[in-house]
Amino acid sequence: MLQDRFGRVATDLRVSLTDRCNLRCSYCMPAEGLDWAPDETQLTDDEVVHLVRIGVEQLGIREVRFTGGEPLVRRGLVDIVRRSAAFGPEVSLTTNGLGLARTAQTLADAGLSRVNVSLDTIRPETFATITRRDRFHDVVAGLKAAADAGLGPVKVNAVLLRGVNDDQAPELLDWCLARGYALRFIEQMPLDAQHGWQRDEMVTADEILASLQASFRLDPASEPRGSAPAELWTVDGGPGTVGVIASVTRPFCGDCDRVRLTADGQIRNCLFAREESDLRTPLRAGASDEEIAGRWVAALRGKRAGHGIDDPTFLQPDRPMSAIGG
Ligand code: 5AD
Ligand code: SF4
Repeated sequence: MLQDRFGRVATDLRVSLTDRCNLRCSYCMPAEGLDWAPDETQLTDDEVVHLVRIGVEQLGIREVRFTGGEPLVRRGLVDIVRRSAAFGPEVSLTTNGLGLARTAQTLADAGLSRVNVSLDTIRPETFATITRRDRFHDVVAGLKAAADAGLGPVKVNAVLLRGVNDDQAPELLDWCLARGYALRFIEQMPLDAQHGWQRDEMVTADEILASLQASFRLDPASEPRGSAPAELWTVDGGPGTVGVIASVTRPFCGDCDRVRLTADGQIRNCLFAREESDLRTPLRAGASDEEIAGRWVAALRGKRAGHGIDDPTFLQPDRPMSAIGG
């Protein structure tokens, strides 16, 4: 088992399949993109599948979520999904939705269960401002294809930015409810490559809720939150819901059940971890599965109690979210 010193057990593996992306969301990376990791540092499809198998068969991983960067730009994605799903875990995907219209059915046939799609606005011009690409309609088509392929409940992740889309929460919720998508707002976290995040610039969960409550009646949803980071609310008496992921103002680190594997084969026990544990080098040196599993277990023992964003000593991790996996 992947248990840490605080008794938390990691059962949810997030695997970043690439640090590359075809969007340039302002809260994530600069307009010119980043220096992408060199190819030889990236795990091959076989190596990813090998590590997923160790996680599932030896370490109690029950859910595998593929992320990026943008995982749909990884050529071997369908094959990786098919081979990973064959080990038995639930397999899901966090994507920006570009190209999903083309691949949703193939991914569902390969064993993918669910998708989370990032969409911060339903206005094409705001979309172009935030992502620096004019691709709003591709995302809309991707969402629809995902729902049609049975990759549901389709979740939509939204980040609100002050002065950009912070007045658009109600219309985004209306739009998602009408289509049966489960919308969740995520507080902006200090994980951007430019290190531009500022606490007082962030739109807080309280502000998001206040803005929604001006248009909807929200009641706390009855189902227990468990290790799910979203606080759920029913909208206007249900059945529709909306979630708020208050990673910064109401951290849920005490219930965390996640562990992360980067595209270059490093285990991170937290999004905000300052250290990583290298599995790629031993894997390529021919280490046994037991040895790899042992290193993975050891990596979890160093997991801290919380991310400490509010500590005066907080330091943003060296690698941005696009290199870690969301
Ligand atoms: N803070 C909060 N959410 C972020 N995402 C990307 N960068 C940040 C950030 N700095 C979101 C994406 C996607 C998910 C993986 O995380 O929009 O929905
Ligand atoms: Fe790409 Fe996601 Fe970063 Fe936007 S937030 S640039 S979609 S990796």
